[in-house]
Amino acid sequence: MANIWSPASWRQFEARQQPVYRDRGALADALAQIGSFPPLVFPNEISDLKADLAEAADGRAFLLQGGDCAESFAEFSPDNIRDTFQLIMQMAMVLAFASKLRVIKVGRLAGQFAKPRSTELEEKEGVALPAYRGDIINDIGFAPTGRQADPSRMLRAYAQAAATLNLLRAFASGAQGRMDQAATSSRIIDASPSAGRFRELAARVDEALDFLAACGLDPASAPQLRTTSFYTSHEALLLPYEEALVRSDGPRGRAYGSSAHFLWIGDRTRFEGSAHVEFLRGLDNPIGIKCGPSTNPDMLVRLLDTLNPGHERGRITLITRLGHGDVERLLPPLIRAVRLSGHPVLWSCDPMHGNTIKANGYKTRPFDRILDEVRGFFAVHAAEGTIGGGIHIEMTGQDVTECTGGTWGASEHNLGDRYHTHCDPRLNGGQAIELAFLLSEILNDAVKGRG
Ligand code: PEP
Ligand code: CO
Repeated sequence: MANIWSPASWRQFEARQQPVYRDRGALADALAQIGSFPPLVFPNEISDLKADLAEAADGRAFLLQGGDCAESFAEFSPDNIRDTFQLIMQMAMVLAFASKLRVIKVGRLAGQFAKPRSTELEEKEGVALPAYRGDIINDIGFAPTGRQADPSRMLRAYAQAAATLNLLRAFASGAQGRMDQAATSSRIIDASPSAGRFRELAARVDEALDFLAACGLDPASAPQLRTTSFYTSHEALLLPYEEALVRSDGPRGRAYGSSAHFLWIGDRTRFEGSAHVEFLRGLDNPIGIKCGPSTNPDMLVRLLDTLNPGHERGRITLITRLGHGDVERLLPPLIRAVRLSGHPVLWSCDPMHGNTIKANGYKTRPFDRILDEVRGFFAVHAAEGTIGGGIHIEMTGQDVTECTGGTWGASEHNLGDRYHTHCDPRLNGGQAIELAFLLSEILNDAVKGRG
């Protein structure tokens, strides 16, 4: 018998990856406060994004989703947010120019704080403490007090998400959101080996804008060129926090998650009977599902039946992260099962999470393997006659040394130089732009191949 959904109905299901809060009173207090706060995003924005994602599913747009693996309180600064925003704009320009597809920009930003972990405890020199679960839950430092789950961190995360969104909205509607600004080279790009290629492309974009101006279409007054749409997303992992931010869309009476435009279910929490699936089932937001190597095709279709019984377009994005060596074997059965089911989905490629290795004591990802999974993903879609409509990456505008390879990456020996991530290794600005250029060639071929 189907249960009746409510923001709290997930509590009747198995909730994995949740912290244990010792002080129940403090938890209730924090959640009551968050429950009284304003929504961070709004129903009309969510509907706009859903319509955009439906376009991407049909091959008329492309989803670019990226940002930190884990946002942190320590790295929170306007410069970091500006650099990430600018990099996403620049990548979008590279992709749009080559593919002639509109690029939908979604940040792993303004709320990407909670992390699933493979073990409950972390052990160091015989001492075992609760694992770090992201700044919204506990502290990254290996100390007993800091590792206790602290409900007041949710209040700080909300405040940081609100301030981040405030800045993102200003960028999107201000100079940073203008196409001619995206074509302006940045410190990150100037320092990278893609600088020459980027400047060449930027000159062509400028030329196109000048041509439009000569035709009487002043780019400064065209809203499509003067501003941009920028959306936020994160893994909806910490269910009490997400529940406290459920709001109702007045006119339509639908519940929606107001913590971000796009919410996804992680690979570890997409199992049948999961509290995360139950929670997201009742929200109006577009939903992502991470599909790792253990994804069973029949199970996936049942998940789609649960999360999108009405086959609403733009509702579901399947984010596959299968690993560079396995994508060509594991992706076709998923595509075929979904196609047979008739569910409309947007297929997006996360080439990061299936390609993490340990080198020199650090978690890293070789650039070649990331690129290889991207190529495999598009090759499979071309062979199946389906559409690879998006990419999902972990990246930062900063010059970090976390992923190896690419023409600007770290080698295994200098990973320690600027290894700052709070969780998984990110592409640095130079690697991200390089990936955008390589992806733009692949995408261009894919679009041409579709005829
Ligand atoms: C992530 O996106 O940071 C993540 C944990 O991914 P996955 O659920 O695919 O492992
Ligand atoms: Co990650």
